[in-house]
Amino acid sequence: MAKRNIIITGGAGFIGSHVVRLFVNKYPEYNIINLDKLTYAGNLANLKDIEDKPNYKFVKMDICDFEAFYQLMQDEQIDGIIHLAAESHVDRSIKDPFTFAKTNVMGTLSLLQAAKLYWESLPEKYEGKRFYHISTDEVYGALEMNHPEGIEPPFKTVASSEGHKAYGDEFFYETTKYNPHSPYSAAKASSDHFVRAYHDTYGMPTIVTNCSNNYGPYQFPEKLIPLFINNIRHRKPLPVYGKGENVRDWLYVEDHARAIDIIFHNGKIAETYNIGGFNEWKNIDLIKVMIKTVDRILGNPEGASLDLITYVTDRLGHDARYAIDSTKLQKELGWEPSLQFEEGIEKTVRWYLDNQEWMDNVTSGEYQKYYEEMYKSN
Ligand code: NAD
Ligand code: TYD
Repeated sequence: MAKRNIIITGGAGFIGSHVVRLFVNKYPEYNIINLDKLTYAGNLANLKDIEDKPNYKFVKMDICDFEAFYQLMQDEQIDGIIHLAAESHVDRSIKDPFTFAKTNVMGTLSLLQAAKLYWESLPEKYEGKRFYHISTDEVYGALEMNHPEGIEPPFKTVASSEGHKAYGDEFFYETTKYNPHSPYSAAKASSDHFVRAYHDTYGMPTIVTNCSNNYGPYQFPEKLIPLFINNIRHRKPLPVYGKGENVRDWLYVEDHARAIDIIFHNGKIAETYNIGGFNEWKNIDLIKVMIKTVDRILGNPEGASLDLITYVTDRLGHDARYAIDSTKLQKELGWEPSLQFEEGIEKTVRWYLDNQEWMDNVTSGEYQKYYEEMYKSN
């Protein structure tokens, strides 16, 4: 395997930490640089187990700092970028859209321009280079939930031992038109367009992937799954937005990291790949699974925590349904989710219950203040 010098941005965050861990362990001959600003969502404790490896280095940097990033590209002779750094929480984007435009759009543009200047200055130019941008299914907008009781999906699924339901007959494909609704997804959509523009205009070897909702260890507990596991444990209310009928397609985070590895190495330049779990859940059904699992593991009577469910004001512009068709990735590159959802949620619940210290550290201080502000109005 050839030696490579790779920057992974956002490596101290949820998905990024799993990608960094996978690459550092699997490719000892690569130099892996984790570039992260360490916002409230970034936490180096996520990478304790690999921080002393000789092929790993952490650099604290803002992706909007063009000069510093350009210098780093030259100093480290970077030939690959896997870009995950972003502001990622929809509720925060509704309160503070400017930060999302700055990091997600201007930050991505800054990386693209620095990579362009550096790679174009080399004799071999773009030969052997990769700019891989990690995006979301939310850029496609929302699908209708026109089968509220669920139908057989038209594609192969490994999602659940009880079989899989689709809550509508439309899915997001790589060809689906962008139609973002939230400031978060609008900013991600804009960054995706810039990445593709750098391929089409300058010939930069880019790849974009759009993934569905991830779950698993190390997710910041403002997102549904870790927030609710922690609240159930501490008998705090579970704030369900609207009627809890919205549908999301959940993928175990290590399966996303495996897809990123496969696509970084074998994906076709200028292509888009959709990554999904074939695993649609209505929020309220998923919440009941979490309650059941936490109660069983903690030895509570079945249903003991159902009374924590608290219906609150709906999220503004709340997208009804996301559902990815990742047949292209399965057929062309042989990836598929490895875990059934029951297995994934069991592992996830156990991880959060076993790692209370991690949870206490990330929920202290600034985040706690934000959380109190956020739900004060409900
Ligand atoms: P996260 O919020 O957990 O982590 C984001 C990381 O980026 C943090 O470590 C943070 O410190 C860093 N960061 C933020 N602003 C930065 C800046 N200006 N400069 C440098 N670093 C900065 O996010 P996540 O859930 O791990 O998502 C990672 C990527 O995957 C994002 O691009 C997101 O849009 C995308 N994505 C996420 C999901 C999901 O379900 N979480 C699904 C599909 C796609
Ligand atoms: P989230 O984890 O924020 O991911 P996304 O908005 O990117 O899909 O939310 C997942 C779903 O859960 C979404 O439909 C909003 C809903 N939700 C709640 O009902 N209550 C909550 O406290 C949170 C954080 C989310």
